[in-house]
Amino acid sequence: MDQVRLGLRPVEVIRNHPIGGISLACALGLLIGSSAKTSAIGPAILVALAGLAISKRSGNSRAEERDRKQEEVKMSEQDAVTLLKKDHAAVKQLFEQEEHVTKKNDSGKASIFNEIRAALEVHAIIEEEIFYPAVKEARSEQVKDEVREGYEEHKQIKSLLAQISSITPADETYDMKIKVLKEDVEHHVKDEEGEMFPDAKKFVGKTRLLELGKELEARKQQLEKNHSSKSALANQSTKNIRSNH
Ligand SMILES: [Fe+2]
Repeated sequence: MDQVRLGLRPVEVIRNHPIGGISLACALGLLIGSSAKTSAIGPAILVALAGLAISKRSGNSRAEERDRKQEEVKMSEQDAVTLLKKDHAAVKQLFEQEEHVTKKNDSGKASIFNEIRAALEVHAIIEEEIFYPAVKEARSEQVKDEVREGYEEHKQIKSLLAQISSITPADETYDMKIKVLKEDVEHHVKDEEGEMFPDAKKFVGKTRLLELGKELEARKQQLEKNHSSKSALANQSTKNIRSNH
């Protein structure tokens, strides 16, 4: 009503309405669509309809962007224990996948081992750089012992990773070493999830664990980015070596 009083024609009133505008454009498109090839204004209407489609698409991408931001907020709100438990679950899944790769599939075995190694290396770094020092600050000898044990377990896991990296899946000791690695990781997960994490919740507190969760996530993303660019470089140099022969 106000728009009519302001001097807008009925068509402008409909067009200015968020839904009316789309309906009007569609109606015009239908009316003119049949004679679009011959009408001088047909192409203009088709362009307008294309504009509407693009605007709808940009509406979709705005919704996707909003969802992505919400997901980012959710991620930044996960505490350190939740993040580390997710890491454990991801590595467990990789070991399960490894078991399903047949013995003859050397490249498949090597590829899944690379994933396991990358995941364990990143996990050990973020725990040793951020989580363990924070947990060690708790005034509890028991927690300090749990952290010392964590460092020792990491040492053993890193040593096995280095040993497996130096052989191929065709080596007769390969499967046995993978089995020991899996058992060591399972032991580490049991210790952390059964003792260290509940104690961290008790002594470190919710607020600090949330802060640590953000720090761990940021460092993890940085390490994964470095790792993937290194892998890309390694792949590239392998391709270069092959093409030079
Ligand atoms: Fe861990």
